[in-house]
Amino acid sequence: MFIYNIDHVAIAVHDLDVSLAEYERKYKVTPVSVETIPDQGVREAMIAIGGSQIQLLESLEPDSAVERFLERNGEGLHHIAFAVVDIEKALEHLASEGARLIDAEPRIGGGGHRIAFVHPQDLTGTLIELVEVDDG
Ligand code: CO
Repeated sequence: MFIYNIDHVAIAVHDLDVSLAEYERKYKVTPVSVETIPDQGVREAMIAIGGSQIQLLESLEPDSAVERFLERNGEGLHHIAFAVVDIEKALEHLASEGARLIDAEPRIGGGGHRIAFVHPQDLTGTLIELVEVDDG
């Protein structure tokens, strides 16, 4: 089993600061990080809840994947991220099972983690992210 946790559940929002302030007020949480990921054209806040996290995602560019998602669906659940120990092995396995990978090779995501996305049309209409995290 190469997945050992749900690293985060990501929610696309129109305005990160507004949504984050509301999460803080209503759910009494605080972000562990707020970070811009230029490569993906997004800014994201991570909120730790138990051993997992909620990620709020804001688009910074009109042609980013998150912006297109917001235009189509409005705010809401964007992807689920699985924590894996060895992302190459995970990708190799998924490829051997015929999974439709968005990233055949890992790239660098938030927190400097190596990540890769699996297409939502591969399985159950849900965008899946793999995040390589050390402490498996
Ligand atoms: Co994510």
